[in-house]
Amino acid sequence: MCDHNCEKCRENEAEDPKKRKFLAWSVGAINLAVLAGIFTPVAGFIGSPLKKKEQDDWIDVMGEHELGEGETKEVRFKAKVLDGYQTVTREYVVFIKKYPDRVIAFDPACTHLGCRIQYKGDQKKYLCPCHGGVFDEDGKVISGPPPKPLVTHAVKVENGRILVDRRAGSAA
Ligand code: FES
Repeated sequence: MCDHNCEKCRENEAEDPKKRKFLAWSVGAINLAVLAGIFTPVAGFIGSPLKKKEQDDWIDVMGEHELGEGETKEVRFKAKVLDGYQTVTREYVVFIKKYPDRVIAFDPACTHLGCRIQYKGDQKKYLCPCHGGVFDEDGKVISGPPPKPLVTHAVKVENGRILVDRRAGSAA
């Protein structure tokens, strides 16, 4: 408000309702833009795992013909996994053994403290380099501190290919 009632002040006051309306509209538009700028990425971040289609959990690791009966082979493969809100590619290792009637995939982690075991084909044993744990070729504990057999993963054979599902492991 103006105290001296001059021509300029009277003009300004006449324009005031229009200015106020424009300013209110501008402030409202800016607020909306700021809120949209904040909530759009947050909503996308929160909802992204729901939108992502996870990779098929069965991973093709090798051809069945690549493994002789009674033979064990170390197989490395890559798989996409959901890590928090990101899909990342990780490398995994399993030991595949072919029996006359089935195929088994052993997890390479020692059941004592998780060190990576090594398969010794000439001895038909798995040896753990950390504390001397020894497993037989069927994953059972022979000696050392491991409290239980090696963990196995689900396996299926389809169209001559061996597929492994790493998600759920179970003791051999
Ligand atoms: S971690 Fe394998 S024996 Fe300890």
